Amino acid sequence: MIRIVREAPAEAGAREALLDLALGKRRRKKSSERLRENRLPADGLSFSAKLGNGRLVGTLRLWHISADANRPTLLLGPLAVHPAYQKRGIGSALMFEAIASAKARGDRAVILVGDEPYYRRFGFSNALTSGLHMPGPFERHRLLALELVPGALADAHGLITAAGEIAPQAPQKSTGIAGKSLTSRIRRAS
Ligand SMILES: CC(C)(COP(=O)(O)OP(=O)(O)OC[C@H]1O[C@@H](n2cnc3c(N)ncnc32)[C@H](O)[C@@H]1OP(=O)(O)O)[C@@H](O)C(=O)NCCC(=O)NCCS
Repeated sequence: MIRIVREAPAEAGAREALLDLALGKRRRKKSSERLRENRLPADGLSFSAKLGNGRLVGTLRLWHISADANRPTLLLGPLAVHPAYQKRGIGSALMFEAIASAKARGDRAVILVGDEPYYRRFGFSNALTSGLHMPGPFERHRLLALELVPGALADAHGLITAAGEIAPQAPQKSTGIAGKSLTSRIRRAS
């Protein structure tokens, strides 16, 4: 059985190893990373997928950003599932939990850089991001957004900037409540 839980601070090492395995070490060179480095993730919006024995097999975090001047938004990512556990619905379970939790907290919109063929199933598209820019190189067709509140990104244009709380030290740690089971949406997981 696989559970989606809030990330625990003690998982930092396992999370970094999982991200290196799933995304490669070049992940740190991405422009999205410029919006995350030296910042804390959004409080309570970091999630882990764990096996019954506690092993981490999936991770997803959300971060505070500003989409153009003073438009509070969340940045989603990185999302990663251990290669041996992919295609069992774990990525989708993490996504649905993250989106539902952000919406429940009153967050207004989520932005990410990723593959539209994967993320469109959760409602993401590039329809609302044509006026926005990342702080560094990015592929425009991969800059995607989902409004949690209709109109939240209407006419958004300009530079996306980091807005998260400054991390006291690296590596960043979660401030979420660890260990609480959040969802049972996972299909085909065992
Ligand atoms: C993308 C990722 C998180 C999906 O996790 P997952 O647990 O396998 O996802 P799910 O089981 O919910 O969904 C699997 C489905 O998504 C599809 N899928 C996976 N990655 C995809 C992509 N990049 N583009 C389109 N479809 C994709 C799979 O083919 C599968 O399709 P199916 O349902 O028709 O079999 C995982 O493949 C991963 O960690 N990849 C490496 C890291 C990565 O690319 N992260 C995302 C950055 S954009």
